[in-house]
Amino acid sequence: MLKKIQQWRGKEPSGNYSKEDILQMPVPEHIAIIMDGNGRWAQKRALPRIAGHHEGMKTVRKITICANELGVKALTMYAFSTENWKRPKMEVEYLMKLPEEFLSTFLPELVEKNVKVQLMGNRDAIPNHTLNAVDKAIEETKHNTGLTLNFALNYGSRDEIVHAVRNIVDDVKNGKIIESEINESLFSGYLYSHALPDPDLLIRTSGELRLSNFMLWQLAYTEFYFSDVLWPDFSEQELYRAIATFQKRGRRFGGI
Ligand code: FPP
Repeated sequence: MLKKIQQWRGKEPSGNYSKEDILQMPVPEHIAIIMDGNGRWAQKRALPRIAGHHEGMKTVRKITICANELGVKALTMYAFSTENWKRPKMEVEYLMKLPEEFLSTFLPELVEKNVKVQLMGNRDAIPNHTLNAVDKAIEETKHNTGLTLNFALNYGSRDEIVHAVRNIVDDVKNGKIIESEINESLFSGYLYSHALPDPDLLIRTSGELRLSNFMLWQLAYTEFYFSDVLWPDFSEQELYRAIATFQKRGRRFGGI
């Protein structure tokens, strides 16, 4: 066993890992992913951008199944940001249809694999047809106990924080809470992500090195992993590499 762990420790982050390698050390409980590079993937193939999003949807399935098999408890996927409304109307409409397409194809498999679907974001501007599909999946999977697949849809961290502040102010005014009760833990409970622990690992694909308004509060002590791979090409092996890198880091949470 010790020899195996020593071999694993000696591997480069870019090396090849097996599922068994990864399972020798604790896996992150919550992985959050900024799925970037769909447009460039399509452009490289002279395809329309939406072809990249469609391929990216297939990667969502692959990585969900893989993470579930590794025993990851939660996977948060940044599917549509509060800033993505600035994209061409046709692309926005397509992105808002993707959850329906994904769930109409894969919901039975998610149910069978004990995956629980959740939504994180501002529901106000999400079209009804998208919400209906997601709500149906949430309902059908609510008793599942495996991985939580948390779709960040019309999600923006600043919007989430402002929304939380407004609700806290309302609750102070109507006497539900008193001002002195406001602390970090109470604040976390007012965020869209309140049902989940903070992510242990953040992955961003496509070589971009920024957070793009994603989980700014929740990522305070998260380990970051940036991959040059475009999201539609992201594979199980890439996930293993990200987790292996995480496993080699020493997390101190501000201590020593
Ligand atoms: C960013 O890449 C990606 C998005 C804004 C959309 C991500 C959506 C998916 C991967 C599919 C989601 C699937 C479900 C089931 C909801 P980009 O388009 O900005 O890529 P680029 O930077 O190369 O142009």
